[in-house]
Amino acid sequence: MPCVMLDVHSTLAAAPAAPHVVRREDYRPPDWLVPDIALDFDLAPGATRVSAKLSVTRNGAHDRPLRLDGDALTPVAVAVDGKAIHDWRSESGQLVIDLPGDAHIVETEVVIAPATNTQLMGLYASGGLLCTQCEAEGFRRITFFPDRPDVLSRYTVRMAADRAAYPVLLANGDNVANGDGIEAGGRHWAQWTDPFPKPSYLFALVAGDLHANRDSFTTMSGRVVELGIWVRAADVAKTAHAMAALKTAMRWDEDVYGREYDLGVFNIVAVDDFNFGAMENKGLNIFNSRYILADPDTATDVDYDGVAGVVAHEYFHNWSGNRVTCRDWFQLSLKEGFTVFRDQCFMADQGSAAVKRIEDVRGLRASQFQEDAGPLAHPIRPESYMEIGNFYTATVYSKGAEVIRMLHTLLGDERFRACTDVYFERHDGEAATCEDFVRAMEDGGDIDLARFRRWYEQAGTPRLKATLRHSNDKTVVTLEQSVPPTPGQPVKQPMLLPVRLALIDRDTGAKRGEQLHVLEDERAELSFSGFATRPVLSINRGFSAPVVVETDRSQADLAFLSAHDDDPFARYEATQQLMLDTLIAAVSAGRGDHAAVVNAVGATLVDPLLDPAFVAEAVLLPSEAFVGDQMLVVDPVSIASARDSLRMALAQAHAAEWQRLYKSHSDRAFEYSPAEKGARRMRNVALGYLAAADEADGARTALAQFEAADNMTDRMGALGTLANGSSTARDVALAAFHDRYRDNALVIDKWFSVQALSTRPDTGDAVAALVRHADFSLTNPNRFRALVGAFSVNQRAFHGSDGQGYALLAEQIVALDPINPQTAAKMVPALGRWRRFDEGRQALMRAALERIVSTPGLSKDVFEQASKSLG
Ligand code: BES
Ligand code: ZN
Repeated sequence: MPCVMLDVHSTLAAAPAAPHVVRREDYRPPDWLVPDIALDFDLAPGATRVSAKLSVTRNGAHDRPLRLDGDALTPVAVAVDGKAIHDWRSESGQLVIDLPGDAHIVETEVVIAPATNTQLMGLYASGGLLCTQCEAEGFRRITFFPDRPDVLSRYTVRMAADRAAYPVLLANGDNVANGDGIEAGGRHWAQWTDPFPKPSYLFALVAGDLHANRDSFTTMSGRVVELGIWVRAADVAKTAHAMAALKTAMRWDEDVYGREYDLGVFNIVAVDDFNFGAMENKGLNIFNSRYILADPDTATDVDYDGVAGVVAHEYFHNWSGNRVTCRDWFQLSLKEGFTVFRDQCFMADQGSAAVKRIEDVRGLRASQFQEDAGPLAHPIRPESYMEIGNFYTATVYSKGAEVIRMLHTLLGDERFRACTDVYFERHDGEAATCEDFVRAMEDGGDIDLARFRRWYEQAGTPRLKATLRHSNDKTVVTLEQSVPPTPGQPVKQPMLLPVRLALIDRDTGAKRGEQLHVLEDERAELSFSGFATRPVLSINRGFSAPVVVETDRSQADLAFLSAHDDDPFARYEATQQLMLDTLIAAVSAGRGDHAAVVNAVGATLVDPLLDPAFVAEAVLLPSEAFVGDQMLVVDPVSIASARDSLRMALAQAHAAEWQRLYKSHSDRAFEYSPAEKGARRMRNVALGYLAAADEADGARTALAQFEAADNMTDRMGALGTLANGSSTARDVALAAFHDRYRDNALVIDKWFSVQALSTRPDTGDAVAALVRHADFSLTNPNRFRALVGAFSVNQRAFHGSDGQGYALLAEQIVALDPINPQTAAKMVPALGRWRRFDEGRQALMRAALERIVSTPGLSKDVFEQASKSLG
């Protein structure tokens, strides 16, 4: 192809005065389809030549031109049906070509520079590798293409690179040819073909000096799949856990959903610089190395679970995301909500389902409830966006998963499975919508979901008020719901809430009237009889609906449930509610009555029937942030001191128990199993309480644990306890830890986080010093999140009344934005909570946001988050 040098830079420059808003209602099918694409990459970090050959076909009767998306691309050459053309034009980054007929071959050539791609979207370099990230709109940074998920193509990829630097060349699908060919100077090439048509966001390519942990899996129909997890040579030993999780997940999807893997190859590559957790590219998943690498010396139990959960999640996308993909990005929850639900169920099946549910609900409350209560609230299927990267939110993911879970609850196991069969069979190979999913549920489950659809339309966390009246033989439970106003949605309709409830006889412990009540209207009354005395209400069992529950239950009721409820989640919840009520009373009164909590925790600690993993969760106080979320005005200082004193009371009242629990769960050799994980969790929770009761003694115990530990969970448990205190052991341990792991970036991330999360009064200063530490970096998203992200969720430190925390966050966001706008934008919502604080903090937080918005050249990612946060 002849060369036509032209300057067609799409802007990365100033945030447009009025950035373009994309609306769901404006969806139109694509004007042109691309059934086939052949890509040819001449790879080198400084300059990679990308040649693309697209077969394009007109979609429907229209005379509109072909529009190919491009972002920061300069075409070197354009040809149609084999002939160079010059009459193409460029319109806001798009390459526009008028085409006469209905089917053509369009060829383009561009040169891109992976080495300077700090955004980590498109083709970029990470630790000597070349790799891609295309979801949501990264493919347009590689080549010109209709970069939207409803254009599905068959991909053929040829790539050539220097053999010494890039001995391994991977892409989607099957490796069909390799060779040294005609390329001189030590170059080699590989060709890959993916037989499954896919949207551009699932394209992937990796080149580098990688080594594989190889294994295989035989599917339920007897096909053998070659599995490979590709990492640096030195890291191969850390991939066993990920490989085991992958095989377990593959079997699970066959057993539970009847879905088997469809290609002959499934590869995973771990990279160090990655904006997200991992990415489900067809046949070639690319992972943040923190979700692949694990061994006892460097990964905690939480890390091990994270690896298994994310490996499963990305694998499950092969059906919920790849075989059935999204029509447009407003449908993101179609694949993400469903797939999160699938990975949650998978993990629940691998260990304690009760503890898993507690963790998931805790996560939902910490991030999604906050989002729903603030300026960035949106439904799980948003109506508009400026930058789609900002809509990979807790709402789309976690609330989206709760919505699928409610469908599962309403339908039951078997009918839900029948419905997912309908969904997968009906839409296989298509780009579908959330509405398609709901209709498959209706058709397969013979259920009317008209009201249920409101979960896709309305933002805001519903409040459910439950009151109980009892007289003579009659008990009446009244349920009332309301949905708070959210930006753009002042008035709400009632939601369909599946509410699991039961009544428990206080004297006999007998449970009656257990049911799933489907609340469809604002209010309902449920009548029961047969209780001699007022029974105790157990409500939203298993957290059956993602709502905030308000009840008239007394301290005695909650204490009773905390000791006797047979639903483990409800039991946990009763204890938490008791703690929350106590903390809120203490914040408003200045001092609290700790007796009820002390007794409930005491009873939980000595209950021989309880799983230690459950006990460890149940005796933990709600986080300071969660207490703040329950208050009209968040007072971080009072919350911190109320929580510290309740913690102290628990530590002292049960000192002997903490000692006993600590000892009885010590001196065990490391094993990654539900029982041993539970034991380590209990041990480290006990250690925290020991240190709260007696700092010096606790620090000695912690240092001993730190030094003797044969695993990272115990090492970090000890370091976390030490980091909150002011013993000399703290400095010793922090220095030893850094020294030991100086060459392991994932562990050094922990070293940053543990300091950023410290409860010490000087944490703000410590973080201000750490952003200048030689190991801090703006170019590695893990490192940035480990320090700045962790600090922004440390309520007492971040919300110091002098505003130092806000200024630091604004400064870091502004510094990161030109390097990696997507990661920078993720940090903005911490400042968006300003309405929840007192006037002084409000002013300081707004000033920080204004400083961000007024920065010249701001990305639209950060601009959208900051301007919406200011409201
Ligand atoms: N498809 C996403 C990856 C992604 C996230 C692409 C954001 C573009 C923008 C992937 O399937 C995903 O959801 N990853 C999660 C982890 C998962 C276990 C929830 C992530 O990266 O955080
Ligand atoms: Zn996902």
